[in-house]
Amino acid sequence: MFLRSFLAPTLGVALLAVALGGCGGDNAPDRVKIGFLVKQPEEIWFQKEWEFAQQAADRLGFDLIKIGATDAEKVLTAIGNLGAQGAQGFIICTPDVRLGPAIMARARSYGMKVISVDDQFVGPDGHFMDVPYVGISASDIGRKVGMALYDEFARRGWPLEETAVCVVTFEELHTSKERTDGAIAALVEVGFPADRIHKAGERTTDIEGSFHVGSAMLTRFPDVKRWLVCSMNDEGVIGAVRAMEGRGFNADTVIGIGIGGSSCVVEFQKSSPTGFYATCLISPKRHGYDTAEWMYKWITEGVEPPKDTRTEGIIVTRDDYDQVMREQGLL
Ligand code: GLA
Repeated sequence: MFLRSFLAPTLGVALLAVALGGCGGDNAPDRVKIGFLVKQPEEIWFQKEWEFAQQAADRLGFDLIKIGATDAEKVLTAIGNLGAQGAQGFIICTPDVRLGPAIMARARSYGMKVISVDDQFVGPDGHFMDVPYVGISASDIGRKVGMALYDEFARRGWPLEETAVCVVTFEELHTSKERTDGAIAALVEVGFPADRIHKAGERTTDIEGSFHVGSAMLTRFPDVKRWLVCSMNDEGVIGAVRAMEGRGFNADTVIGIGIGGSSCVVEFQKSSPTGFYATCLISPKRHGYDTAEWMYKWITEGVEPPKDTRTEGIIVTRDDYDQVMREQGLL
């Protein structure tokens, strides 16, 4: 009797608290949390991806946790931290594509969903892994760069025997190799002699890495008077162009065309043109906003993201980049 009369009101209060909790207060369901890990947080491309992912987070109402994960240890620690915080998924541009299996194993242990962006995971068998991926259509974009280099070389009427191509490569990364191979293939197809196309492998895919190989290239080929330059990204071209400027080359003797459109804006904004002539503009908005939105829908509605998405690029120069970037929602 005593027990019943004591328990009844207590239980009633407890049930009321549960009911109220369901409507808000301390027991309110947690907001969705999504991580966004990038391999090179100092690179403007990745900062832009974060910026657009944040727009998706603000619009859809979830928490975005941005993490710079520059090596294997940082990636695995970051995934552990995300799991401990209750994140339900993350988007990642991994610092090493061979980390794919370890990343997936760790994500699975926390029940987290994964979308890979920019650099595609490679499994132990050397094949791409079956994980949703958003990357650029690397070969086509490389080919566009090669064609644009040739067109500008032809338009300027440069003597072939004074001209060579400097290709700053990073062949251990598939998307990078596809880009530079595409550029070389297009140049050769339109008749540029293969023996005047020189590759140089950079150790890091930043301006410094490219500067080193650009300098070495000039030492190797002191007789070349005019250079065409391409690489996997804007940084890969800017570094080599800087090295060339250091040896007296300028906008009249260098045609550099990058891939990206984020890092090169400062080049285009300089008062007079530099050897960085153009870029193939790609979309950090599609890579940042779309992946974040897809992850959110995957978590909240169970809608699986597309398995393999390849985004396009458009060649822009200092004359039209501003207008095109505005049209693309990038400015
Ligand atoms: C790679 C490169 C970046 C950028 C992206 C685009 O990750 O390292 O500079 O070009 O691809 O997908």
